[in-house]
Amino acid sequence: MGDGAGTGAGAGRPRVFVARVIPEDGLAPVLAACDARVWEDELPPPRADLLRAIEGCDGVLTLLTDRVDDEFLDRAGPQLKVVSNYAVGFDNIDVPACTRRGIPVGNTPGVLTETTADLAWALIMAAARRLPEGDRYVRASRWKTWGPMLLLGPDVYDATLGIVGFGRIGQAVARRAMGFGMTILYHDVSQLPVEVEAAYGATFVPLEELLARSDFVSLHVNLTPETRQLMNAERLGWMKPSAVLVNTSRGPVVDPRALYDALSRGGLFAAALDVTDPEPIPLDDPLLTLDNCLVVPHIASASRATRGKMGAMAAANLLAGLRGERLPTPVNPEVYEGR
Ligand code: DGY
Repeated sequence: MGDGAGTGAGAGRPRVFVARVIPEDGLAPVLAACDARVWEDELPPPRADLLRAIEGCDGVLTLLTDRVDDEFLDRAGPQLKVVSNYAVGFDNIDVPACTRRGIPVGNTPGVLTETTADLAWALIMAAARRLPEGDRYVRASRWKTWGPMLLLGPDVYDATLGIVGFGRIGQAVARRAMGFGMTILYHDVSQLPVEVEAAYGATFVPLEELLARSDFVSLHVNLTPETRQLMNAERLGWMKPSAVLVNTSRGPVVDPRALYDALSRGGLFAAALDVTDPEPIPLDDPLLTLDNCLVVPHIASASRATRGKMGAMAAANLLAGLRGERLPTPVNPEVYEGR
């Protein structure tokens, strides 16, 4: 473990642990204000190192690879004032456990919406038009001539897009779909106000109908007990054999074995995954043997600008929590009730 550059001036400064090197926009303010230790490896801290590193900390800046649960909170100690997650998703954190202890948890909503929607869109296009296969075809010296039947796929324009989870990111995907003249269906826990639907020309339908009618299905739900393996064998079976499934949400939302079955027996045209279960996907995972399954390494928010904004936001949450102020973006605002 490396000691961050700001470790020197300990006295009176809050002790924090930063679980990975994050962009300067986030790291600089933390190092300036805190006695900070930064985990400098590319890989996340192994559990034992993580638990050792957080002992006695006033604040922690975690990533989606770090599990924050009762064991973590016990080891950190009662002085822990804030958990700031460098992600919009927070399924790595036992939020009720933090709330029970009065510890606010911050995340980074909003700043990665457009960048994530861009990647979802890139995956829709790449899977439909078979870009990774085309690239492999060229590099394998198989491109001999223009071929009338070569690498055919479905059109994206004028097709039907089904968006599962119509929050910020789902709506940003819908905005892009409008430019492609798509019919937009969505499903969420509840129907959105008519103004929101009208803004995208989107129609709320039950999940079964969405899956049955859509040419492209893009997943944008949080990972919760209800959405874990949402796309199981039965629901994948409701999709058209010509359809494409895109997942930029969380890996466990899709049952990988059921997806393999669907893709390998022609139950689906293709899948494009930014997230897998587990992560990283093991190299011997059968999904990686399929030409019609595109996998990228959880990079939906990976633009330089967005990662910088996520860093600034995570730092702002951390520093506010250390000062005892309300976090700019708390995921458990109920900790402030009655304060
Ligand atoms: C998140 O923020 O939840 C993404 O998965 C990583 O940017």
